[in-house]
Amino acid sequence: MEPLTSILLHPERRVGADMARWAAAGGGQALARAAQDPAGVRVAIREADLRGMGGSGFTVWRKWEAVAAELPKPDKYLIVNGNEDEPGTFKDRMLLEETPHQVIEGALVAALAVGANRVVFYVNPDLKQSLAAVDAAIAQWHASERLAQASKALGRTLELSLRPASGHYIGGEETAAISWVEGGFPFPRGKPPYPAQAGVHGCPTLINNVETLAHVPHIVVHGAEWFRSLGKAPGTGTKLYSLSGDVLHPGVYELPMGTTLRELIFEHGGGLLSGKPLKAVFTGGPSCSLLTPVNLDVGLDFDSLRACGGSLGTGAMIVVSEGTGIVKRVAEYMRFFAHSSCGQCNSCKVGTATMSRLLDRIDTGRGTAADLDTLENLCALLPGSGRCHLISGTVQLLDSSFRHFHNEYRQALR
Ligand SMILES: Cc1cc2nc3c(=O)[nH]c(=O)nc-3n(C[C@H](O)[C@H](O)[C@H](O)COP(=O)(O)O)c2cc1C
Ligand code: SF4
Repeated sequence: MEPLTSILLHPERRVGADMARWAAAGGGQALARAAQDPAGVRVAIREADLRGMGGSGFTVWRKWEAVAAELPKPDKYLIVNGNEDEPGTFKDRMLLEETPHQVIEGALVAALAVGANRVVFYVNPDLKQSLAAVDAAIAQWHASERLAQASKALGRTLELSLRPASGHYIGGEETAAISWVEGGFPFPRGKPPYPAQAGVHGCPTLINNVETLAHVPHIVVHGAEWFRSLGKAPGTGTKLYSLSGDVLHPGVYELPMGTTLRELIFEHGGGLLSGKPLKAVFTGGPSCSLLTPVNLDVGLDFDSLRACGGSLGTGAMIVVSEGTGIVKRVAEYMRFFAHSSCGQCNSCKVGTATMSRLLDRIDTGRGTAADLDTLENLCALLPGSGRCHLISGTVQLLDSSFRHFHNEYRQALR
């Protein structure tokens, strides 16, 4: 078995909120460099082709450049998105719990690079250990010279704070997170204006995922070339894959970005439970397309998956073995999405509820061919109809299950 690639999850870095041990393992070097050359950090991030690990895979440098170009009004914010509430995704909690200083350093480097003075850690309120670790680690930064030095480099006081999120899945969407940080309900907002121009209290705001920011110190210290070489082209760097479902060794695996599904499941995950054949993989968490055994040799990176009609999402891989009913699983996830819709857009509120109701009917043997037709029509009508991506992600799941397992839907009809 190929050894695991541990950069973010290297045992030396898994020291919890212990600043001395984190520093002994090289922690702090990136921040010192960023203080000397913040613009150079943006160049390194661009050359490394770092992507957003919160689900979109958006190129990080574009957002950073947009925020850096804005003047503070009067502040600039950075939100570290640790909402992590989608089924099957459990990587950020591990980073926050086991390596909070690494994430804080990444956030402070990003803050210097874009000129943000307020850094808010926005963490799922149910992740008690992550909250405790971040809280303890922030207290250590406040007591250390490092934060004062970073403030000096920025030219104003850098504030680090922790804001438990609302406990809603939708609260992870970037504009919903902004609304919650402002003190409102986490309702997504229409864009434009984009957070880079008008985010928290109208101030320019950068929002990045926990894992995205954890990569930053390593790129700054070791360089873009080194980072790119860690991935399997076109992937760059490493990726935390959350592997779960019918697999022998579920867990978080840090592997080269672009590792194949076959390697992840069979080499690292030990294969399927009871040696059953693979039927499908819900990726994303489940808000992306399904992968099937024909995709076993596709690289799990943003571009390769997009090229075959899928998407990497957060890197969650929920493995399903032969013998599992796809209709039942999709109906379960649809219930989750219908429950998670914030209800602002009629198409999403009514659409997710309708899809959930029809899927439950079909799954329990009461569905008709007309129900199936309605679902198929909704798949064509709903994408892009909401303020945020929730509705499109939900449809992507259903549509993809139709593409691969239409026969199961037909068989389940009354
Ligand atoms: C419904 C929904 C939920 C989301 N939840 C999260 C989340 O829990 N964590 C996260 O980092 N991004 C989440 N996102 C993506 C964010 O909107 C945003 O793209 C991300 O935080 C940007 O960081 P990145 O560029 O580093 O990925 C969610 C998006 C949607 C539409
Ligand atoms: S698409 Fe759905 S979750 Fe997103 S804002 Fe509209 S109603 Fe809310």
